[in-house]
Amino acid sequence: MTHPRYPPIIQGGMGVGVSGWRLARAVSSRGQIGVVSGVALDVVLARRLQLGDPGGHMRRALAAFPDSRLTERIVDRYFIAGGKPPGQPFAAKPMVGHNPSRRAQALLVAANFAEVFLAKEGHHGQVGINYLHKIQAPLLASLYGAMLAGVDIVIVGAGIPLEIPEIIDRLRRSGPADMKLHVQGQKNGRTHRLSFDPRAVLDSPRPRLPRPLFFPIASSVTLAALLVRKCRGGVDGLIIEEPTAGGHNAPPRGRQKLDSVGEPIYGPRDQIDLAAIRALGVPFWLAGSFGNPEKLLEARAAGAAGVQVGTLFAFCEESGLRQDLKREVIRQCQHEPPHVFTDPVASPTGFPFKILSVEGTLSDPEAYARRGRQCDLGYLREAYERPDGELGWRCRAEHPDQYVRKGGRLEDTIGRKCLCNGLTANIGMAQIRGDREPEMALLTCGDDLGDIQRVSGCGKTHYSSSQVIDFLLSRTA
Ligand SMILES: Cc1cc2nc3c(=O)[nH]c(=O)nc-3n(C[C@H](O)[C@H](O)[C@H](O)COP(=O)(O)O)c2cc1C
Repeated sequence: MTHPRYPPIIQGGMGVGVSGWRLARAVSSRGQIGVVSGVALDVVLARRLQLGDPGGHMRRALAAFPDSRLTERIVDRYFIAGGKPPGQPFAAKPMVGHNPSRRAQALLVAANFAEVFLAKEGHHGQVGINYLHKIQAPLLASLYGAMLAGVDIVIVGAGIPLEIPEIIDRLRRSGPADMKLHVQGQKNGRTHRLSFDPRAVLDSPRPRLPRPLFFPIASSVTLAALLVRKCRGGVDGLIIEEPTAGGHNAPPRGRQKLDSVGEPIYGPRDQIDLAAIRALGVPFWLAGSFGNPEKLLEARAAGAAGVQVGTLFAFCEESGLRQDLKREVIRQCQHEPPHVFTDPVASPTGFPFKILSVEGTLSDPEAYARRGRQCDLGYLREAYERPDGELGWRCRAEHPDQYVRKGGRLEDTIGRKCLCNGLTANIGMAQIRGDREPEMALLTCGDDLGDIQRVSGCGKTHYSSSQVIDFLLSRTA
């Protein structure tokens, strides 16, 4: 049975820039829920402008922003007519910490506005935006930007986003909002908060914005139940994600055990009791290897409103991934799908992260060893309390000497990969490093690549998001 209010397909929010406005717009135009990734949109906007803003879309979206002086400054700073020369590095962008400058906040607000504005253009479908709760520092300004553009659904994963509905309520009145910052090595029980005031960034904020729906992502009944019961302002829908999903995964319950190849072992305790989820009385979508028509029927039979699908959409024409990477993966899927490794340590966050083995990317241990470790985007940094009580920021994937100098443990740096630069390289925005190699791509996707060939058809190396939707709906009455 179709859920009375919601479409059966949510297209996965895939960072950085894999689910950009083009993909979300295409999916929402078909009446399903298209989702833009809200991760690192400030760097994506700044680099799109430096690449010459082909088609003028970014500048068109920025022209619709309610504060033209703010967006003119961004265009003046970053736009390069005709694009930067290929060997020239991208201009540095301020890293966002606990006290971001007005300029850094303005870039976040404008970038999130632009992505949602473009995704919503030309249709009446619903558009969502996806954030990771672990990436705390840019979250408030980003959320406000998305709400200014009228985002319909806010999806938040990778954490316990209890405060988000209240934050949404404050931001919709363009009032100041704050949230608790997780800080390592906190002493004296002091709590630190992040804050954002729209009036400190925009000349004349809008008095009232529409309220988006809130769909948190949960990988256990415990978390789903906590969110439904404790979120003040309410949960409108749940995305229930299994550990086979692309990107970051929730770690297995209990003490972590690895199998013979070094992947985390998930056991019976990680299985999600769908009857208990259904009993929460909130519409839910199942994610993680649910990207085929049979799994959609199975999800519906279990009481779900539908499925959230990432991997199949990640390699379609409208996704932001580099064309050569898409073609290569689809080509391999015609014979034997490439290997997906659930790496327990690659992500600086400590969450398992899925890595697709593709030649010429950071999945290759030699390429990884060649890369000089440095942190210049900083989304996955952790806040820590310095001996003087002030806050500092460090990333487990930065140079180990620096991490240790900041009080971190050397063992926490081992095997960490710079996801920020790798994922940005995936979408054709690799940073150039003087006499060193440009940053290399680092692909992620779900465990199940088997359905790519069913969508593309034999011998084909491309397919559209519409084909994915037709495929998923092909057995639904
Ligand atoms: C390339 C890629 C990037 C992803 N990035 C994110 C992300 O940034 N945040 C997030 O919450 N989920 C992310 N996901 C997970 C998807 O939103 C979705 O839940 C998942 O892909 C569903 O499982 P499937 O990959 O088996 O279809 C990503 C998935 C893929 C394939």
